[in-house]
Order: sequence, then C-alpha cells, then structure tokens
Amino acid sequence: MHLFRKKNVAGVDVDLAHLPSHIAIIMDGNGRWATSRGLPRTVGHREGSETFRRVATYLNNIGLKHLTVYAFSTENWSRPVEEVDAIMRLLKEYFLEACEKMVRDNISLKILGDQSALSPELREIIKRTDELSLQTSGLKVNVCINYGGRAEIVNAARILAEKAVLGEIKPEDIDVSLLSEELYTAGIPDPDLIIRPSGELRISNFLLWQSAYAEFYFTDMLWPDFDEKEINRAILSYQKRNRRYGGI
Ligand code: FPP
Repeated sequence: MHLFRKKNVAGVDVDLAHLPSHIAIIMDGNGRWATSRGLPRTVGHREGSETFRRVATYLNNIGLKHLTVYAFSTENWSRPVEEVDAIMRLLKEYFLEACEKMVRDNISLKILGDQSALSPELREIIKRTDELSLQTSGLKVNVCINYGGRAEIVNAARILAEKAVLGEIKPEDIDVSLLSEELYTAGIPDPDLIIRPSGELRISNFLLWQSAYAEFYFTDMLWPDFDEKEINRAILSYQKRNRRYGGI
C-alpha cells in the first residue's frame, strides 16, 4: 500500500495508481557503453547487470507486479566465447545472490527460455530460485535466457501438434488461449510496456506473441545509463497513451 499516489524522481512524476502491470526491457547498449569508454564489452555487461539490480529494486518498491528482461537471446551464442562466458557468469552471480536475498526482498524469479543449453550448475541454482519463489508475493521478475520469440512459438506449436496426434485435443480447439498456455510465459500477463534503450527501433525476437498490444518506449540512452528517472519517463509516456486494443 503506497501512501502517496505519485512517485517523483528528479522532477518526473508517475501515477502509482495507474502503473502498467507488466514492464519488459531489452537491456541493450552495454557493449557501446563500454567501447565508448575504451573498456572491454564485458565491463558494459557488468555495468548493465548493476543497472538491472537498481531498476528491479526501484520497480519492486513502487509496486510493479511483473518485470521481464532480455538477458541472453538464442542468437547471442554467436558472440565471442569470452563474452558469452562473461554474461553467463553475471547471471550465475545474480541468481546466487538472489538465493540469499529474494525472500527478504519479496521478489520471485523465473527463467523464460530453453534451459537445456545452460550449464548444469546454473540450472541447479535456477531450481533453487524456483523453490524460493514459492515463498514470495512481490515483484515477479522473469529473466529471458536462451530465449527467442520464434523458437518459443515453434515449441508451443509442437506441443499442441503432439497433443492433437495423441487425440488429447482437436485441431479446431487450438485458439489464442490454448497456444498461450504452452508458451514460456504461461500464466504471466502480456507486457503493457516494452522499453528498448540504445536507439535501436526493433523488437529483435523478444516476446513476439505477447507484445501484440504492448506500448513501446524507445530512447537513445544506453542501458547502463538507465536509472529511476528514465524508468519514470517511460512509465509517464505510457500513462499518457490511449490503449484501444483495436477498438475506437
Ligand atoms: C545487449 O547489449 C545486452 C546483452 C546481450 C546482455 C545483457 C546481459 C546483462 C545485462 C547481464 C546479466 C543480466 C542479469 C539479469 C544479471 P549489447 O551487448 O548488444 O550492446 P551493444 O548493442 O551496444 O553492442
């Protein structure tokens, strides 16, 4: 329960009574942030993971319900092995830290993506955070790892096809809700607001199905430079829009 309806950060006010329920973020620009400072790209990813902690803490404090971040796509495996290893290390660090803090902070964690390619160690830690998530009721954080929107839809189509072959469902039973239930995001409401920093104006295979009616916020700011004020700007921009879902 928040005593104040508005949350002001450095002159940017948002209406806490009308927050989006689900914000999704493509954490882009870590590499450029580092190289523009003459630093290795991996330093940008470390800085990006600090920004993620800061933003998640802020959104938990103002009462957001769902936060989804794109941490590693199915296409990111093509990056140099040192960069892939560095991102995996940062994820492991964050998940280990979460095991200590998530119950205290009342945050739950879920991985969206194909976990089969992740190290057994990371999968073991993820299992632990899944168990701890059963004890929490605050912000639900979804981290997309080895995630691709097309792969997610293909996977759901395969599951439904298998069910049809086994006679568990009829092809004509397949509708939006049945397919949604086979996505990694089953049970999670669609994102209301998708934020993409770093000046890129693309969706890059992120939440393709779920973004059907999402509002977008694009900014030139690089992800490591993000803070509470920029998040408030994105929420404020969302709060000024008129969502019609195809109506008038
Ligand atoms: C995109 O920037 C970012 C990534 C592919 C990795 C994101 C990973 C993290 C922020 C670290 C771990 C995450 C958590 C949740 C602890 P880019 O590398 O494509 O940047 P560029 O476009 O400037 O090259």
